[in-house]
Amino acid sequence: MSQTLKAVRGTRDLLPPETALWNRIEATARDVFARYNFGEIRTPVFEETALFARGVGEETDIVSKEMYTWSDGERFDQDKLIRVWKDNYEQQLRHQSPNIVPNPYPGVELRVIREFNRAFPPDPFEFVAFRPTISAEAIAALSKAKDQEVARNGHPERFQLRLVVPTTAADNTWIPRENVTIEKFDGQYFSSSQSLTLRPENTAGVVRAYIENKLGETGQLQKLYYIGPQFRRERPQKGRYRQFSQIGAEVIGPPSAGSESPLRDAEILEMLATLLDELGITGWTLELNSVGSAADRVRYNEALRAALVPVVSQMCVDCQRRAVINPLRVLDCKVPADQPIIDTLPVIADSLDEASQAHFAAVTAALNAAGVPYTLNHRLVRGLDYYTRTTFEFTHGGLGAQNALLGGGRYDGLSEAIGGPKAPGIGFAIGEDRLVLTLLASLNQESAPPQVADAYIAPLGEGLNAAALVLARELRHQGLWIELGEGSFRLKKSFDAAEKTARRIVILGEDELQSGILTVKTFATGIQTKVPRAELAAFLAEPAKG
Ligand code: HAM
Repeated sequence: MSQTLKAVRGTRDLLPPETALWNRIEATARDVFARYNFGEIRTPVFEETALFARGVGEETDIVSKEMYTWSDGERFDQDKLIRVWKDNYEQQLRHQSPNIVPNPYPGVELRVIREFNRAFPPDPFEFVAFRPTISAEAIAALSKAKDQEVARNGHPERFQLRLVVPTTAADNTWIPRENVTIEKFDGQYFSSSQSLTLRPENTAGVVRAYIENKLGETGQLQKLYYIGPQFRRERPQKGRYRQFSQIGAEVIGPPSAGSESPLRDAEILEMLATLLDELGITGWTLELNSVGSAADRVRYNEALRAALVPVVSQMCVDCQRRAVINPLRVLDCKVPADQPIIDTLPVIADSLDEASQAHFAAVTAALNAAGVPYTLNHRLVRGLDYYTRTTFEFTHGGLGAQNALLGGGRYDGLSEAIGGPKAPGIGFAIGEDRLVLTLLASLNQESAPPQVADAYIAPLGEGLNAAALVLARELRHQGLWIELGEGSFRLKKSFDAAEKTARRIVILGEDELQSGILTVKTFATGIQTKVPRAELAAFLAEPAKG
């Protein structure tokens, strides 16, 4: 028996009824985003690797350890090889006029006849295949083509078989050549490869799209949200997956549109508080910090670098590297032994200039006015390099080790870092998988409650199947959730199936069809009621009736 294939480590299937919860979360998010005047953006799930390297930062864990990156290329350009070979061949045979037929047999690209006038012995034929490597498949296709041609025309001595490959093709001596001539052709027949990466996050992609689609030229603030899968090769555990879904939003635009205003930061945070409340998530904590402007960060990095010199030799190897390349990343370190050392390092608040301090003060003042509670956390520098000024995370105690429900912040220099115009922005991404876990925990459930239909229609006999479909169609058109049974079932089996999937069962027998009076049983009460067909939809829409 062949081995059963399973979902890849760190990925999983989402099934009903849990998917209903995902849909409810997404519907609530879309509704809230619409009220704050956000529009949806959908960017590709893969991008050029350079976008993340330059946007998120080479030294971040995400880019240096967790990306799904591959070289997408090198494509063999068969058409080019055929074109160049043909030109060459025709030049060589300038005085004869080769007759070239494309694709004469499967796997063979050309049939060539060199035509001599009234030649004897008859003109030689050639079958030619073009491949990136010397392949057994091509040699077999050529031999088969010859056999078929010989069967049609005879004269086996007239055929020549040729396999044309680029000079780079390895000499696979283990492949039997039979009577095929291998011709190695000089030239560049591969298009160059490109390094691509499955998106580990969506902010860089949104900013790339903002630049590419010239959204800044509208002069307006762009308020964009997204819902979709992200990919990181992390060690899987509860709340941490290799494919996970984010619900995120970004506000970005030219400074003249007010994109730098601290009001934007406060509005985003107030929107998140509203969204979590509307989703029914209680007990979250908003942790807030400012990592300052790019200039503040340079100062802070210098202060950190200096403070690290006497202690770094006692720290983990990652921190030793970070201390040199990007000292800020030392604050991301999770190694327990390093924590007491990190606690003694300078804090970023002391490196902020006046403008950054005033910006942060305006954000907190607006949050205070709106009654959005927060706690300050000066170690919250976030694991991505693009952040400037405001950074934040919403955490939830119910999540365990992976307690960040969402994270975000301001990224005033990201657009320039990936070659765009000045376009300050702020945004966040919620881990949707973690939202679901939090909601299930608050419902005190491992999985979402099953959904039940309004009614199960049980046709009594296969002859009534079509009539049952018509009835189901009528009721569904009126907005009811209907499960359709099968006339071959015995009544007992229909009842068993109905009780598992619906609130009520509607019996459709010959009598019911003729009289137009249907028998309906409500499972919660056990009461059986006769309902005229015209009133059935209204009756079924009332869960408490009967
Ligand atoms: P992030 O903090 O890397 O930020 O991710 C945001 C959220 O995605 C996390 O708080 C967490 O809930 C969820 N998440 C991250 N990794 C995983 C995983 N492996 N499994 C499950 N959930 C995960 C960003 O991605 C930024 N792009 C946020 C942002 C938007 N900043 C500005 N705009």
